[in-house]
Amino acid sequence: PDPERDRLIQAYEWSAKFYHYLLKNTEHGTAAMDYLRSRNFSDKMIDQFQIGYAPDRWDTLLQFLEKRNFDLAEMEKGGLLSARGEGKGYVDRFRGRIIFPIANRTGKVIAFAGRILGEGQPKYLNSPESRLFNKSRILYNLHQSKASIRKTRQIVLFEGYGDVISAWEAGVHNGVATMGTSLTDSHVVLMKSLADEIILSYDGDRAGQAAAIKAVPMLEGTGLRVKIALLPSGLDPDDFISKHGGDRFREQVIESAVSSIKFKLIYLKKNHILLEEDGKIAYVKEALEVIASLHSSTEREVYLREIASELELSYDSLKQDCNLLRASLQ
Ligand code: CTP
Ligand code: MN
Ligand code: MN
Ligand code: MN
Ligand code: MN
Repeated sequence: PDPERDRLIQAYEWSAKFYHYLLKNTEHGTAAMDYLRSRNFSDKMIDQFQIGYAPDRWDTLLQFLEKRNFDLAEMEKGGLLSARGEGKGYVDRFRGRIIFPIANRTGKVIAFAGRILGEGQPKYLNSPESRLFNKSRILYNLHQSKASIRKTRQIVLFEGYGDVISAWEAGVHNGVATMGTSLTDSHVVLMKSLADEIILSYDGDRAGQAAAIKAVPMLEGTGLRVKIALLPSGLDPDDFISKHGGDRFREQVIESAVSSIKFKLIYLKKNHILLEEDGKIAYVKEALEVIASLHSSTEREVYLREIASELELSYDSLKQDCNLLRASLQ
């Protein structure tokens, strides 16, 4: 029994309901609602993910918690309130922000992420780490996706909240997010205990692609199969769905996810100008290193033939170079 923990969960649960109510049913929430609609968040998803709004005032939640006799020092420690800059007392930690409740595996709210309306810094303000909330262990939406994960033995891994929510509406019900790009060993161990295959669906920008390159060996190292969903540069999954719709997302992004080798080759290719000889040779050299590390000769042949035809090179010379490399790796 841990009464302090139970009180904090209670406070988060009630605060989530309160912020959700303020968003949907009061004038405080009008601008936030307009913002969410402009980003194609549907009423259905706003309800299902219990999205809320924290008004831009100092004491909205403070009064709510005070009336319910919560210990304010405890609430500050738990990240719902902040200590006042000067003097005694507390103020709301989340002000003028869209609230995404973050739940643990059993569905209890244990933290908030607050997004600013539109532009501004920081874009997201999170609850601090506490004994309830350890960012490196929590996967956003696991409580809702675990049923589908159990059935499919597959997880679609996103970077952010909006991606998970839009994908859910598009019919992808096995999605979770790491709340940023840093995947930890705890996340990997947790996912390995639930699934056999991960589809990485990170943002189509440099940071997202670099994060995917880093995530692949961490995941494959535990024996998980990994596929990578490719997005046009500059779009994240949420943007893609807003722009092209959920059907196209499922068919052209999730169901078309490529093998990790294919992704590495595509990733390497981006750094070279293949129309120039130097660029072509440099790319082939890097690609051969990836291909030479494959244990299956069939797989090596598949990728070597692809590169041969794409770059108008002979399969034989590629194979020869690949074998030389393999010999030097022994
Ligand atoms: N993130 C964070 N703090 C930041 C930026 C990002 O915690 N200052 C986390 C959030 O979980 C966010 C995820 O990293 O959802 C991915 O970041 P990003 O792609 O920048 O944000 P989006 O989720 O795409 O948010 P939006 O579409 O609202 O810009
Ligand atoms: Mn509701
Ligand atoms: Mn990103
Ligand atoms: Mn993003
Ligand atoms: Mn986004």
